[in-house]
Amino acid sequence: MAKEKAREQWGSKIGFILAAAGSAIGLGNIWKFPYVTGQYGGAAFILVYLICIAIIGLPVLMGEVLIGRTTHKNPVGAFAKLTKSKFWMGIGGMGVVAGFIILSYYTVVAGWALGYVYEAIAGNFYSFSAPSSAGAHFNNLIGNPFWIVGYFALFMLLTMGIVFSGVRNGIEKGSKIMMPILFLLLIILVLRGVTLEGAAKGIKYFLHPDWSRISAESVLIAMGQAFFTLSLGMGAMLTYGSYMSEKDSIPGSALSIVTLDTLIALMAGLAIFTGVFAYNLKPDAGPGLIFHTLPVVFTRMPGGYIFSILFFILLSLAALTSTISLLEVIIAYFVDEKNWERKKAVLVFGGITFLLGIPSALSFNVMSGVKFFGFNFFDFVDFTAANILLPIGGFFISVFIAYYWGFKNALPELRKGAERLFEKYPVVITFWKIFIKYFAPVLIFFVFLNSVGLLKIIRELF
Ligand code: PHE
Repeated sequence: MAKEKAREQWGSKIGFILAAAGSAIGLGNIWKFPYVTGQYGGAAFILVYLICIAIIGLPVLMGEVLIGRTTHKNPVGAFAKLTKSKFWMGIGGMGVVAGFIILSYYTVVAGWALGYVYEAIAGNFYSFSAPSSAGAHFNNLIGNPFWIVGYFALFMLLTMGIVFSGVRNGIEKGSKIMMPILFLLLIILVLRGVTLEGAAKGIKYFLHPDWSRISAESVLIAMGQAFFTLSLGMGAMLTYGSYMSEKDSIPGSALSIVTLDTLIALMAGLAIFTGVFAYNLKPDAGPGLIFHTLPVVFTRMPGGYIFSILFFILLSLAALTSTISLLEVIIAYFVDEKNWERKKAVLVFGGITFLLGIPSALSFNVMSGVKFFGFNFFDFVDFTAANILLPIGGFFISVFIAYYWGFKNALPELRKGAERLFEKYPVVITFWKIFIKYFAPVLIFFVFLNSVGLLKIIRELF
């Protein structure tokens, strides 16, 4: 169409894969995955998680990228182009809102990672011989509003700087530099972990399934984690897909993204648990695993000074390639739909997101007494976004493809760039259809019920 401005595209297929894998790989893999695995039974939990990734994660990821690539639009524009329906545009709009919300609190935690790079370099870990003293140090830091808001602001500026430079020169170039460094750092950390004396206990924990720990709750947690870790349900993958070329294969790229994301989560778990078990610490410390338990591991391990620096750089890079994808959802919306200029949009909406995030940052200090439905502000927005908005988004994306847009329209689009694959393995299409039509919506529906506590109520009724 003559009216449409030339839209940016990824420079190469590998550029897209690295950027999308960068979005997927984040705090969800390195911070959250190891601690939920620790809380919900090690290898048994991992197996359930892998099943969720395969039967929900991969098909929904393909679906999101497909909607993006078909329309070459942001989440709102994409649904508008395919349907003209206000309802579906609203679903897209929910993604943009989720972008604001997730970016605002996720960047606060990303700021901690950055702050800990400094702590590691300054050698502040060497006084910790027990998780309780490391925990006290952490609580001291996040209890200081200047520390927390300062690093939050710094991280937001880094994110804005990359998105400011555009899709190809900012996001793609940044991902191409950061992702290989991230892989290398993680390989070094895994090697350090598995060569520690006593590492075998950690490896065993990782590989030995304890089936008695599998419950309805752990299945639902595994599913929520699959969603969050693949950046699904809010249009981040849709937006990245909108910069993709018709020449590249969606199933192939999606498989690469899922494989990389899973590999990184497993490697992070391995690096962390070998250390935790080698020093007889507890694997079930919860969200504090990285900030309370790990500093103790670094204090005790040979070469811990260097490895602690590498670890927190790894965590910061992983978070940064995710925050840029969250900001890009917002920017793509204002650039496509409201004709904003990219640079101006980044300054304005990066700034607004920063302001939105301040109450999250202050939840750990001056606002710790302020409760919303029993949560502090940070936990409230985290819960709303990750457990409500993402599952609703993912549910409607699969319902949209299977029942509204229809496979009749979707399949010819999916075939583009994947002709040879479909010729050789037509079964890929059959599986995708079954998963998108039945498995994904039904299973996501149950995650959602669980998140809002309805499952408990239903259980009590019967
Ligand atoms: N996938 C990211 C992680 O694992 C989080 C994220 C969620 C990013 C949704 C973008 C969109 O940390």
